Amino acid sequence: MTSSPGSTRTPVVAMASGTGSLLAALLAFAERPSSSFTVAALVVDRDCPAIGIAEAAGVPVVRCEVGDYADREAWDRALRERVAEYAPEWIVAAGFMKILGPAFLGAYAARVLNSHPALLPAFPGAHGVADALAYGVKVTGCTVHLVDGGVDTGPILAQGVVEVRTGDTVESLHERIKTTERELLPTVVEAVVTRGVVTDGRKAYIP
Ligand code: GAR
Repeated sequence: MTSSPGSTRTPVVAMASGTGSLLAALLAFAERPSSSFTVAALVVDRDCPAIGIAEAAGVPVVRCEVGDYADREAWDRALRERVAEYAPEWIVAAGFMKILGPAFLGAYAARVLNSHPALLPAFPGAHGVADALAYGVKVTGCTVHLVDGGVDTGPILAQGVVEVRTGDTVESLHERIKTTERELLPTVVEAVVTRGVVTDGRKAYIP
């Protein structure tokens, strides 16, 4: 478990669609005695290994698949209702491969974080690592940003730089980027939970 009875740690809901290594990093950070947050639940939009990681840590899993709803709006509303049961102060998309819609984002204005595997605003979207490699950049990295209505367009909170090596494949480069993400994302979550965020909608900083 990531919380103890009587814990006053801030509840955070994580969202994932894949192997869950960022989720594991969040859970490991939340286990530290000094951590200010707890992972109250994991949301998944599909069957994925992240589920097993959450279950092994005793974290409840909310499964909310688009195909189970009439349309994206209905899914978005259902997601909002199911997440609300955990009363999170922050939502952390940690490898979540769906675009969140207005009904969900409206309930958590400027309180949804995403980790993206490129240096935004370069290479947004689902193929950021492959796109950066194909373009021939010499450095890439990862970005933690607030989620707005666009695709990876929200205000940036933190970035980590990763060098592209000759001979890199999408897999080798992505693995080094994820190593950086696993360091960066939990520290940003800890920072926003304890200090909040100031944003004008384009720029953001953690005071
Ligand atoms: C991470 O690289 C994350 O930035 C990316 O998925 C990976 C998840 O890794 N997210 C996106 O691309 C979102 N558009 P994991 O499954 O090992 O945690």
